[in-house]
Amino acid sequence: MSMNAFTSRLGIQHPIIQGPFGGGLSSVRLAAAVSEAGGLGSFGAHHLCPAQMREVIRDLQTATAKPFNINLWVSRHDPGAEVMTAAHHEQGLRQFAPIYERLGIAAPPIEPPDDFSFEQQVKVILDLQPKVFSFVFGIPNAEILRECARRGILTVGAATTLDEAEALDEAGVDMIVATGSDAGGHRPSFLRTAEDSLTGTLSLVPQVRKITRRPVIAAGGIAEVGGMRAAFELGADAVQIGTAFLACEESNCPPPHREALFTPAAARTRLSRRFTGRLARFMSSPLLDELEHSTHPALPFPLQAAFNRPVKAEGVRRGDAELLPLYAGQAAPLLQHHRASDLMRELIAGLV
Ligand SMILES: Cc1cc2nc3c(=O)[nH]c(=O)nc-3n(C[C@H](O)[C@H](O)[C@H](O)COP(=O)(O)O)c2cc1C
Repeated sequence: MSMNAFTSRLGIQHPIIQGPFGGGLSSVRLAAAVSEAGGLGSFGAHHLCPAQMREVIRDLQTATAKPFNINLWVSRHDPGAEVMTAAHHEQGLRQFAPIYERLGIAAPPIEPPDDFSFEQQVKVILDLQPKVFSFVFGIPNAEILRECARRGILTVGAATTLDEAEALDEAGVDMIVATGSDAGGHRPSFLRTAEDSLTGTLSLVPQVRKITRRPVIAAGGIAEVGGMRAAFELGADAVQIGTAFLACEESNCPPPHREALFTPAAARTRLSRRFTGRLARFMSSPLLDELEHSTHPALPFPLQAAFNRPVKAEGVRRGDAELLPLYAGQAAPLLQHHRASDLMRELIAGLV
């Protein structure tokens, strides 16, 4: 399985992708380490403005001459959440005021809207031409896909259900990530609600395999050789691994979060909208329980995240994992490696 249609299309050695992390958890160091080891390093850039994206891509191009992947979110706001209104602000405060008070921190002001769009972010990709452009939460329009093809940028879309895989296939994306509900991070569903799109990796990968001739990338719950081999057995052409790379010292994960991933508490994860407004998988924690039990509803994405941000900053300042959104997939108890090079070495040795 070491070299296949996937690796030769990308010009890489091993069918192993380091999953992108949005929201500042990706690092140039991690992506470059994985690409240098013969896999595909990724950088999640959905939160970056075009100028910041340019800088990251230039830094990656300096750090490695090998292919890498830049990831964006096609949908960056839930409907009605483009602008934070006074009513949103009040709803956010109702959920978070007791927490701010307890921690002695200030509530955030009404946030101004972003001053950049997905289309402006895509312009940077078209201009700087990373080998791979992956995306979640939707499908870019036909013109964007055509421009990527014209410039030799491979497009990779993510499906959480069979319907989404069919839609990606019909749209003509080059490769499809079949992302099971075991995965860490957000559930990037775009046809139905995330709650209604919770197919596990073991079920989803073979279903997607059956409906497309394009390379299928298995994501969710893979952290060691056994899971990787199982994914290939199910028909995947490559694996995308998130949580196990997030736990490596090269990632931009806050140290208390990284340490928490190696504790027995990582065996309990749950899906919640309470940290960002979109459904994502986190380690269970008293803070998450408290937010889940709030009688006030969560705000849509990204407005909910603005209220969590001061709590997260305080968690980083105090070095307190319990104040952080502890993103983790269900395979977290299997983690063994603290360095990306060690994880890559084990996975590569397990390729048969
Ligand atoms: C903290 C975190 C952030 C993530 N952010 C993104 C993202 O912005 N874009 C994306 O396509 N996938 C994102 N993912 C998903 C991963 O790239 C990968 O597909 C997933 O983690 C695989 O499942 P695993 O965690 O069980 O290995 C994220 C995952 C985590 C854990």
